Amino acid sequence: MKTDKIRLGFIGGGANSFIGIAHRIAAYSGERYQLTGGVWGSDFEKGKEFARQLGLDASRTYSNLDAFIEEENRLPPSERIEVVAILTPNSLHYPMAKQLVTAGFHIICEKPMTVTVEEALELAALVRDKNTVFGLAHTYTGYPMVRQMREMITHGEIGKIQKIDVQYYQGWINPFIHDADKRSQVWRLDPDTAGQSCCMGDIGIHAFNLVEYTTGLQVERVLADINTLYEDNPLDVDGTVLFRTTHDVRGLIRASQIATGEENNLTLAVYGDQGGLKWEQENPTALYYLKEGEPARIYKPGNDYNHDFAQQSTKMAPGHPEGIFDALGNIYSGIAQAVRNEPGHQPDNKGAFPGVTEGVRGMQFIEAVLRSSRGGQVWVSL
Ligand SMILES: NC(=O)c1ccc[n+]([C@@H]2O[C@H](COP(=O)([O-])OP(=O)(O)OC[C@H]3O[C@@H](n4cnc5c(N)ncnc54)[C@H](O)[C@@H]3O)[C@@H](O)[C@H]2O)c1
Repeated sequence: MKTDKIRLGFIGGGANSFIGIAHRIAAYSGERYQLTGGVWGSDFEKGKEFARQLGLDASRTYSNLDAFIEEENRLPPSERIEVVAILTPNSLHYPMAKQLVTAGFHIICEKPMTVTVEEALELAALVRDKNTVFGLAHTYTGYPMVRQMREMITHGEIGKIQKIDVQYYQGWINPFIHDADKRSQVWRLDPDTAGQSCCMGDIGIHAFNLVEYTTGLQVERVLADINTLYEDNPLDVDGTVLFRTTHDVRGLIRASQIATGEENNLTLAVYGDQGGLKWEQENPTALYYLKEGEPARIYKPGNDYNHDFAQQSTKMAPGHPEGIFDALGNIYSGIAQAVRNEPGHQPDNKGAFPGVTEGVRGMQFIEAVLRSSRGGQVWVSL
């Protein structure tokens, strides 16, 4: 076990937060971080109570980001928080990241990185200028079998890619969307908080990221048809995107939050001229390898037949299922290596964690989808 634990702070991620628990467990899972303090939500009193329950030093809970930066920067470098995880709603990511990077902190940021391409480009330039380690929480890239998929494609095991199909279906907005009062309580449907998109910005962006992460291809053009369901609902809750990548590979992303009864049905399929690979988030320890005229093979984590990158992303022996906490934990571990500038760490990080490049790509995808759909479902470039 490492003894030089990285001091970690959270902005958001307190008791009332959805994603906070995943980040707390992920941070501990690789035994590289010491959760030290933070702003545990917009309510200071509740934040202090939450920190007390976690057993944290009360003096390291702050009322807001300004106080966090001011007080942490007063501490000697050996005590100061080094990495800050930004787990607030979307529109706060950019201003908070900008302030924290400028003040000298490394960052783990929830997706989408920003709410516009312009902000994303500006933040990426600042991060590079300041030599900041910046990890973006595209959680699914941390799954061993997603990493195995990436390695198998890179090593030519499905041949030349000829079709990509990603489905990301959820149904959780169905109980809110049909009633104007109820939907006004959902921040993901409020452009001031969520940004320009709900469904595509929340889950379509993961699908897009997985296409580029696993195939190494870049999406160049999109034709999108997004759906807000009601005229007075400003943001999309469903959509279909046709895309073309480098080398003119064709694919599609189907994303929905009104697929009634669906939970987190993310399915990624890549077909080459020599075989296909399929991964389902709700059954994440199985990677299906399809070959013409042969029974399907199922790859599973923890087995030596996997590529090293996938194998190193598993902590337990085969048959002991790991899930979303461990996937995010793998991303945290990759970021820890970069923060400590360890020998195994590569400057281009070899897929160990997404960063500002992926953050910019994500925003370019969202804005292209909106341009395409609003322009009458036409092809547009990213
Ligand atoms: N990577 C993933 O798979 C994944 C999954 C879910 C959510 N997310 C992302 O995580 C982010 C948060 O989503 P969520 O579902 O946890 O939202 P949430 O509404 O459950 O939690 C938001 C948290 O931010 C806090 N907050 C709001 N304003 C704040 C401020 N000014 N200072 C400090 N804290 C503040 C709230 O108190 C709350 O704790 C979003 O950007 C979302 O896209 C990512």
